[in-house]
Amino acid sequence: MKETYNPGRRNFIFKSALTTLSVYLGFSGLNSASAKSFNPHLAFDHPFDTGFSQDPLPYGYDALEDVIDAKTMEIHYTKHAAGYSKNLKEAVAAEGVQTESVEKILENVSKYSSKMRNNAGGHYNHELFWKTMRPKTADNKPTGKLEKAIEKSFGSVDAFKTGFADAAAKRFGSGWAWLYIDADKELKIASTANQDNPLMDLSKVKGMPILGLDVWEHAYYLKYQNRRADYINNWWQLVNWDFVEKRYEKLV
Ligand SMILES: [Fe+2]
Repeated sequence: MKETYNPGRRNFIFKSALTTLSVYLGFSGLNSASAKSFNPHLAFDHPFDTGFSQDPLPYGYDALEDVIDAKTMEIHYTKHAAGYSKNLKEAVAAEGVQTESVEKILENVSKYSSKMRNNAGGHYNHELFWKTMRPKTADNKPTGKLEKAIEKSFGSVDAFKTGFADAAAKRFGSGWAWLYIDADKELKIASTANQDNPLMDLSKVKGMPILGLDVWEHAYYLKYQNRRADYINNWWQLVNWDFVEKRYEKLV
């Protein structure tokens, strides 16, 4: 059974811990020194506990045409992502995991095998990825509090998109680009290799992802081949900013 989600209690525990830490270290608020011990899972109210099975895709395989073709979506969801879920369940059974939350595994992922790291990350990343897309819409852009926060952190939405696309394009080999909320509840851009993400205790960048872009070749190769930049540029039309904004507002 999943742990009951109690945002008030989590807030209290986190704020109490933060106060104690601040008094001990002699400052108020988090800084880079304390970021080493930053645990994104505990730091945020996050009604996002992800199970080990795949959620249904929230649209048809052909719904994202002509940005991502139906065949790519079908193979990506039913083969690649399904494989992460299956292998995660195997690792969970083999390694005596007690929790049913992928997030709780990720926060301690250094204690487990590389199979756990790759597949817990892979499953989590894809479950988020599907939900942050929708059929393409004209004039697609963030609004409301998220838009203001992006402008505050990056100067403008266009500057954010440039920075994010750059992180995605420069990721050598396979990996992800992220928009995430850091320990100071500021928006940040980063990329991680393979199936790592900012929730992992061994990640150099720490925070709660609100938007992620899969730049593994399996995500785009049938349509774009080596043209990753075109895939990234077209992908902006698919971002489900309503979902991302709701996620952001639950976390800050
Ligand atoms: Fe993928």
